[in-house]
Amino acid sequence: MTRLRIAVYPGDGIGPEVIDQTLRVLDATALLESAAENSREAGSPSAGRAFSLDYDRLPWGVDYWERCGKLVPDDFLETLRPCDAILLGAVGWPAKVPDHLTLAPLVRIRQAFDQYACVRPARLYPGLRSYLADKGPADIDMVVLRENSEGEYIDNGGRFQRGTPAEFAVQTALHTRKGVERILRYGFELARGRRRRLTMATKSNAQRYAYVMWDEILEELAPQYPDVAAERQHCDAALMNMVRWPERFDVIVASNLFGDLLTDLGGLLGGGLGLAPSCNVNPERTFPSMFEPVHGSAPDIAGQGIANPIAAILSAAMMLDHLRLPAAAERIRRAVERTLTAGHRTPDLGGRLKTCQVTDRLIESLAD
Ligand code: NAI
Ligand code: MG
Repeated sequence: MTRLRIAVYPGDGIGPEVIDQTLRVLDATALLESAAENSREAGSPSAGRAFSLDYDRLPWGVDYWERCGKLVPDDFLETLRPCDAILLGAVGWPAKVPDHLTLAPLVRIRQAFDQYACVRPARLYPGLRSYLADKGPADIDMVVLRENSEGEYIDNGGRFQRGTPAEFAVQTALHTRKGVERILRYGFELARGRRRRLTMATKSNAQRYAYVMWDEILEELAPQYPDVAAERQHCDAALMNMVRWPERFDVIVASNLFGDLLTDLGGLLGGGLGLAPSCNVNPERTFPSMFEPVHGSAPDIAGQGIANPIAAILSAAMMLDHLRLPAAAERIRRAVERTLTAGHRTPDLGGRLKTCQVTDRLIESLAD
């Protein structure tokens, strides 16, 4: 029996609502996988692997702020460090705390734990209406991989001669060979487990230092992955092509800024925010990785029990993959597929079920 310790940071708004349901799904999955392992020992070939999850539930976020005057305790990284993984709901309540404060601990976690690969699958599940005319689930199944640690989002620059007509701003990006190489290698490995296509999106036609270096590093690495078809596209073209030919994409790798843009479109192609999972991975496993839905805390629907829990549940499936429990992860994804195909949906997908009712249906189909 593998025992794993999960730091659970539900956060604010719908964060705790979707995380509560996700933990129910994880616990039900753990029971079923243990049963499958026992029956395999008894001669059945099914591929279960027994595991149990211990949750460290962390009451951080806006409520904590109101009680303690800060969003997380000072030693929050030390609390998270020994865990096997971090499961995050969503943070933010702009009417109470400004967003740049609320989101700061997340940025700290990503940086301190060197979670340099942000992985966001965009897959349209069967039965869902596509935002693209004439494109369906067979056409939309890609992963956008965003460099998460450097690039255009480092905090380096300045504002000068403020308030004068001559005011100017400088915002510097940083691209290191190490950073580019490791994200591309992660992309090649990811593609190997999928349809073996990698598209790198940059703007090397317009920015001739950093992105030409990206081009050169891709050229150097590609021969080491002869089984993967690697290509380059400029980011603007890639965005257009994702809309007209989504079926041509498998793994897309991009810098921090371009990955940010591409993942929003990817999330939409995959059916919208209620379904889009993501993770921030430290591939070397020196530190815990963090798994979270793409969506935020949705104050507009918080407290009504109607948030779609599937984005968080699919993020937990990615966590199980990372924890080397692929059969359990696949069990959850199959259950999501059955639930959606059967039409059990929350209002964001045109359904009428509550958060917990969708989860009930999903848990029922975990055993199939
Ligand atoms: P949001 O993602 O929270 O909501 C955008 C829209 O999508 C809203 O209409 C919401 O009702 C809907 N929506 C989102 N998730 C849904 C779900 N699971 N089921 C059904 N509908 C869903 O983005 P918004 O409104 O811009 O931000 C709200 C707060 O969340 C802000 O404080 C923002 O900073 C924060 N935020 C936090 C993130 C994180 O924790 N990683 C990511 C994005 C935003
Ligand atoms: Mg974004």
